[in-house]
Amino acid sequence: MNRQDFLNYMGLAVGGGLVSACFQACEAKTTGQAVNFTLDLNNPANAALKTIGGAVVVNNVIVAKTSSGGYSALASACTHEGATVTYSGSSQQFVCPRHGAEFSTTGAVLRGPARTALTQYKTELRGNSLKIYS
Ligand code: FES
Repeated sequence: MNRQDFLNYMGLAVGGGLVSACFQACEAKTTGQAVNFTLDLNNPANAALKTIGGAVVVNNVIVAKTSSGGYSALASACTHEGATVTYSGSSQQFVCPRHGAEFSTTGAVLRGPARTALTQYKTELRGNSLKIYS
């Protein structure tokens, strides 16, 4: 291997390593954290959850009242770079304000640059108590 071949080889090896590291580090991971809390829908802080299209972010979870009248609870940190997603009642999608990723009400990626789904949590409504859990 001559000097030029060696430099080309090293450039590819280093460059490939950097690209690989970036793909691993730049794609924020879902936390997969265990979740178990209850929201009091009579609490003014949760008033948005009484209206279809409304949403709140609590404990790193975004909870939205969907058009079906049910609730969708997802990890609030975008899986691309961690920005807090919002809920669009008109499109019934979760949207990342930083780079425009879109997620369904189940957390599936509808539009990049995010490539990983948001973690979905279970919801259970009893009276005015909405339980969010893993
Ligand atoms: S941080 Fe959400 S799309 Fe980039």
